[in-house]
This record gives sequence, C-alpha cells and structure tokens, in this order.
Amino acid sequence: DQQKQQLKQQIRDLLKQHNAVMVAHYYTDPELQALAEETGGVVADSLEMARFGKNHPADTLIVCGVRFMGETAKILSPEKRVLMPTLEATCSLDEGCEPVEFAAYCDAHPDHKVVVYANTSAAVKARADWVVTSSIALEVVEHLSDQGHKILWAPDRHLGRYVQQQTGCDMLLWQGECVVHDEFSSQALEQMKHLYPQAAVLVHPESPSSVIDMADAVGSTSQLIKAAQTLPHPQMIVATDGGIFYKMQQAAPDKELLLAPTGGNGATCRSCAHCPWMAMNNLQNLAEIFDAKNTEVFVGDALRIKAMKPLQKMLDFSV
Ligand code: 13P
Ligand code: SF4
Repeated sequence: DQQKQQLKQQIRDLLKQHNAVMVAHYYTDPELQALAEETGGVVADSLEMARFGKNHPADTLIVCGVRFMGETAKILSPEKRVLMPTLEATCSLDEGCEPVEFAAYCDAHPDHKVVVYANTSAAVKARADWVVTSSIALEVVEHLSDQGHKILWAPDRHLGRYVQQQTGCDMLLWQGECVVHDEFSSQALEQMKHLYPQAAVLVHPESPSSVIDMADAVGSTSQLIKAAQTLPHPQMIVATDGGIFYKMQQAAPDKELLLAPTGGNGATCRSCAHCPWMAMNNLQNLAEIFDAKNTEVFVGDALRIKAMKPLQKMLDFSV
C-alpha cells in the first residue's frame, strides 16, 4: 500500500544520504530482504553476513537480523557505524548462555578447546578459541578433532549433538536451544511425509536430533536454499524459519515449499517456525533507524579485541 511505498522510498533515500548498506538475514520480513538486495546490500546466512559487512566499503552497516549479527559486524568493522532497527532483537541461544556462568564452565574444563556458535554475545565469544556458524561447524570441529583436541561446545545442544555424531569428536555440550527449531516434531513430520511421499526434507541443524535423522539435507540457511535447488524432489518440507521461503522460492521456482510441522498447534507452540526476534525488524523501525535512540551497536574495545580473534579465525578458515 501507499504507506509502505513511502517508507521504502524513505529508506532508499536514507541509505544513499548516509552511504549505508543493508545486510539482512533470510529470516527477516521479505520486504526487508527485497529492499536489501535492490539497494546493493545482501540477504545471507550469518557467516556470509559477517563477511559481506567486513568487506563492504560503506560507512554504515544496517544489520537487519538479531543482536549477535550486529555485534559481530561491529567487532569485525570497528571503524564502521553499525545500526540495527532494534537492539532488542535477541536470540534464545544468546540469552541462554550467560557470560559469567559460561566462563566458569570453561574454567572447569581447561583441557578443552572452546568452540562457540555465532549466536552468542560478544562476551561469550571473547572467552572462546573458535567461533563457528552452522555452515562451517562440521569442518572446524573435524579440523580440531584431527589435531587431537577435545571440545567444549556452546550453546546449541542440538547442533552440538549433530556435530559430535558426524565428526566422532569428544565434545562437552552446553544445554541451550533455539525456541524456533526446538519446536519441530518428528512425529508430526512422519505424518506429513505420508501426505507428501515425494517430498525431500530439509532441516536446519538447530532442530531436534529426531528431526535431523529424517532429513535429506541438513545445513545452514544458505545450504538449505542450495539443497532446494539441487535435489530432484518436486516438494520440499523445510524445518527452519519460514522467512527463508522468499529466497528459496526464487532459487527453486518449480518446487513446492512446505513448512515442517511443529509439535504444538498454533495455540501452544511458542514460535511456530517464525523467530519472534527476527520479526522485530520492520519497515517502520528501519525508516526511523537514523533518528531513533538505541539503534547503534557498540562493543567496548577490550571485549572487541578479544572477541575478534576467534571470529577472524572463522573467516580465515572458511575462505
Ligand atoms: P544460519 O547461519 O544458518 O543463517 O543460522 C542463523 C540462525 O540464527 C538460525 O536460527
Ligand atoms: Fe536465535 Fe533461533 Fe531466532 Fe535463529 S531462529 S535467531 S537461533 S532464536
């Protein structure tokens, strides 16, 4: 409608005026994803978001996603201004891994390499030897395991278990979970597969192991989009946030995309394949980003320097 068009035009003008570029995650509102692409920004998974932001010459990065993505951008590009439509967009994994408690856990296991998922605060990253995203977790852990290391993994227990099972590495797992992916149900999926016998099952590894066990492809958001393109099946049952359908459908226009079922019904499941924090990003708060208070991401120097090391290792490893 007209108001939306006005907001979009306002955002386009602001980006130009401030030499700013948008970096959006696949789970954000499709209108934000389209705007990011149209204006020379990117829609990406968390690893690609980090890399794009670091390499782009803009003065200001507008990160549409959740808090850890903005913090990662700031840690990697301290010279840039990093803004987010709202700093309140957190993540249940980040929330469930309190830095002081985490440091104590690390201290109790000094013989383990500390590998943390990108979905954590700067303070937790600062305590880690490595940061990984779901697109390179397996490769990094395999590399460390080959060197004979034992691993302390945090915070996602489902992803940790998957990595442990795939690599055979000796791993201690922090017991965190994503409120969105934890809801996917293997029982309900079993029933759905009877209705769509030709469908492939695509699963993000933050999902429970019983759901991962049913997958034809397991991977990060960008890896799942690739799988939708390359697998021959006419339908894809997808166990991740439904925001991914916008780019997945563009990448695989001839496929029918279906959301994997959650255990609860609409009334009982907490997030129903839709991240409540990703959904906090919208055209309205994006249009107000340069004027509103509390939209700029800051990470103190001491913390930034410590958190930079394991993040840089991740970028170097994945090149
Ligand atoms: P990706 O790195 O696969 O984009 O995952 C980020 C995320 O938050 C998944 O819930
Ligand atoms: Fe965090 Fe889950 Fe939301 Fe991803 S979908 S940002 S892991 S709460």
